[in-house]
Amino acid sequence: MAYYVKMGEVPPKRHIQFRKADGGLYREEVMGLEGFSGIQSILYHHFLPPRVVRTEDIGSSEVAYADFGPLRHRAFATADLPAGGDAVAARRVILGNADVTLGLSRPTESMRTFYRNAVAYEVWFAHEGAGVMHTQFGRLPFGPGDYLVLPYGTTWRMDLQEPGRFFVIEAPSEIEPPARYRNRFGQLLEHAPYCERDIRPPEALEAHTEGGEFDVRVKARGRMTRHVLDHHPLDVVGWDGYLYPWAFNIRDYMPITGMIHQPPPTHQTFAGGNFVVCSFVPRLFDYHPQAIPVPYNHSNVNSDEVMYYCDGSFMSRKGIEQFDISLHPSGLPHGPQPGVTEASLGKARTEELAVMVDTFHPLQVAVAALELEKPEYMASWLEGDGR
Ligand SMILES: [Fe+2]
Repeated sequence: MAYYVKMGEVPPKRHIQFRKADGGLYREEVMGLEGFSGIQSILYHHFLPPRVVRTEDIGSSEVAYADFGPLRHRAFATADLPAGGDAVAARRVILGNADVTLGLSRPTESMRTFYRNAVAYEVWFAHEGAGVMHTQFGRLPFGPGDYLVLPYGTTWRMDLQEPGRFFVIEAPSEIEPPARYRNRFGQLLEHAPYCERDIRPPEALEAHTEGGEFDVRVKARGRMTRHVLDHHPLDVVGWDGYLYPWAFNIRDYMPITGMIHQPPPTHQTFAGGNFVVCSFVPRLFDYHPQAIPVPYNHSNVNSDEVMYYCDGSFMSRKGIEQFDISLHPSGLPHGPQPGVTEASLGKARTEELAVMVDTFHPLQVAVAALELEKPEYMASWLEGDGR
């Protein structure tokens, strides 16, 4: 996140001696993106960060995709996706391409080991559930509606206070507030639908000093590796910089409405490499006396559109229920089904809550998602006489 945060103790200058009470040196780590050209933070550890006692390859992390078949609108029901295990183990990718994967996770257990994605940003949208993310940057408590933005290289462990249901976005690119919301210094501008007050960095450091065996699952190079450390991985006494995990609650998104229908970029929340994330939140509808509140038909000529339906009524969609995911692929128009436009006329507001991801390249469907598919969805526009 592009503003400066400092937590815990840091020395007055970078790269100078910083000593513990026993006289030993804290170990400095510069963690930055784009080879010292991107955002970075400097962390001070009790232990030498590269200490790894044992490594073990624990298998592929690649997603198996199915043949897409004929171009068509598709939908997947995730309401009854099996729950169980911890957040990382429970994750199931539904859709993906080289730029991003979209999945669901329904964990019922806290994580007993740590996890670090070395090659991708991850955003965990907590649709349901509450808990605490323990990271080397500190504790990040979360609850329903929170987007948890986890930069590459963040080591974390999720403690659950209640079973969770997460929509998970993973991308080998930075996931950040859109550039058009920010000035040249990175500050969020007046027209942005949220501001720095809505961004929650970690709250408190957890500077562990204990030794022992600690497992970290590291995702890199298409594999998962188990690292056994001889010290607690969350051993940071202080850090400062621009790179850290943060939370933003979808309910803090202040929707922008208009006299006539506002297009999806109005709802944009994050930008990633070749995709965007949008939040559809409860809001007033358009106020022109002849306004049509639901969207017009649209062809996403250069993008696939994915919607995860969280809560409320979804006025422009038939055949969709809570927790469903729809995929409206590039090359095929979509819009309200028969009768939906007429039913929307005169409506003053919507209570819908949904997360949308538009990708600039086609998405594939994971083999593991095929059993969730609602094949009847593509026929939901066929009712009536076709007008
Ligand atoms: Fe759309």
